[in-house]
Amino acid sequence: MIGESVKIAVVGLGTVGTGLIRTLQENRATIRARCGVDLELRSVCVRSLRKKRAVTLRPGILTTDRRAVLDDPQVDIVVELVGGTGAAAEIVMGALQRGKHVVTANKALLAERWTELFSLARRRGCGIQFEASVMAGVPVVRVLNEGLAGNAVESMLGVLNGTTNYILTRIAADGMDYRAALRQARARGICEADPRLDVQGVDAAYKLSILGSIALGQWLPPGSVHREGITHLEAKDIRYARELFSYHPKLLAIFKHKNRRVEARVHPAFVPVSHPLAAVVDEYNAVYITARPVGSIMLYGRGAGALSAASAVASDIIHLARAVSSGVSGRILTPVAFSGKAATPVPIEEVRSKYYMRFTVADRPGVLSRISGAFGQEGVSIESVYQPRVRGEGADIVMVTHEAQDGAVKRACGRLVRMRDIVRRSPAVVRIEEGEYAGRDH
Ligand code: HSE
Repeated sequence: MIGESVKIAVVGLGTVGTGLIRTLQENRATIRARCGVDLELRSVCVRSLRKKRAVTLRPGILTTDRRAVLDDPQVDIVVELVGGTGAAAEIVMGALQRGKHVVTANKALLAERWTELFSLARRRGCGIQFEASVMAGVPVVRVLNEGLAGNAVESMLGVLNGTTNYILTRIAADGMDYRAALRQARARGICEADPRLDVQGVDAAYKLSILGSIALGQWLPPGSVHREGITHLEAKDIRYARELFSYHPKLLAIFKHKNRRVEARVHPAFVPVSHPLAAVVDEYNAVYITARPVGSIMLYGRGAGALSAASAVASDIIHLARAVSSGVSGRILTPVAFSGKAATPVPIEEVRSKYYMRFTVADRPGVLSRISGAFGQEGVSIESVYQPRVRGEGADIVMVTHEAQDGAVKRACGRLVRMRDIVRRSPAVVRIEEGEYAGRDH
C-alpha cells in the first residue's frame, strides 16, 4: 500500500545513529521533497533507556524490545546500526524474513555473509542498502552499482582505512613514530573499537570484499583477500622510499580482474608521489577505479566518522523510501547481481608487482654481486640499487626491482637470509603499485 509516510525503525543509537537522527530531523523538508513522502521514525531500539541521549525524541519512541520492533507490521525499513556479526545478523535476517527492507553500515556482516543475505533479500523481494559500509559518506557503493553498472571493472586501488592512512601520513610527513601516530588516530575517533582491525588490514579487507563482490557479481569472501598490515613497515623504509625513489606509503586495498583472473589483496605499498592516491592524506579515503568503457575515475572523501556515515545511511533510507512510496515495495531487486559461487583470487605467490627492498649487510667486497646473484637465480630483475650511508650494524642496500612474481621474490629473499655471513637481518620488502593514471600513461 502506498501510505502517507514511510516508517522506519533504527536499531542502535551510537554515534552514527545519533548523527542519522539529527540529519533526518534537520533536513526533514528536503528529505520529504526528495522522497515524495514523510519519513516517520517509529521506533529506536537501544540497550538502555536510562542513558542520556544527544538527540530529542518523541516520547515512547525509545525501546529495548528488539523483537517488537521487528514484529511491528507498520515498519517498512529497519536500519541496523548495532555493528558486529551477532545481534546485528539477527536483526538484519529477522527484518528481511518479515519482508522489511534493510539499511546497514555493517561491513563485517556484509562481507562475511554476503550470499546468504542477498539470497534472502531476493527471495523476500526486499532491498538491502549498505552505502555506509565502505568509505562512509563517499558513495562508492552506488557508483559501482549504478553509475558504473554498464562497465566491466578491471581494477580498484583503494585507500579504504582512515586510521592507517592517518598513521602513515604522520610518519611520512612529520617523522612521528608509529605509537604516537596511533594514539593520535585514536584521539580522532576514527579507529575501530579494537584498532588491531585497522592496523592489521582487517577493516580494509572487509571493505575490499564488499567492493570486489559488487564488481564481480559473486561473493569475494574476506578470508580469500590476502592481508598484511602496517605494523612491520619501518619509518626508515618510508624515508628511503621517498628520498631515493619518490614513493609514498599507503595501506592499499587492491582488486584486479582480467581474463577471469582475480587478485584481491590488502598490504602496505609504495605509490609514486605523482599518483593521485599519493595526495590522499590524513584520515581521508579514496578509491581509484579503472573500468571499461569509462576509463579511470577516483572517488575521494572522509571515509570514517559519524556524520559521514550518517549521510550515507540517510541516502540509503531515501533510496528505499522512494521505492516504498512509489508502490514497488515487495518487488525491489537486490542492488547487487550475484551468483551463488564464491570467487577464488589467485594465491599471492602468483601476483606480479614491483618491489622495494632493504637489506642490512656486511660492508665488504663481493656482497652486492651475491645479492644480485640470488635475485638473478630466481629470474628477478633489479631496476636500481642504492647504498645509503649509514653507521652501525652494517650497510643498507636499498633496491627496486622490475615487475616480478611474488613467489620468486620470496624465494630470492630466502636465499639471502641463508647467507648468514653477509646478511645481518631479514630484508624489508614492500610492494610498489605504480598503476596507470593520467599523466603517466597518456
Ligand atoms: N576504522 C575505520 C577507518 C572506520 O579507520 O577507516 C571506518 O570504517
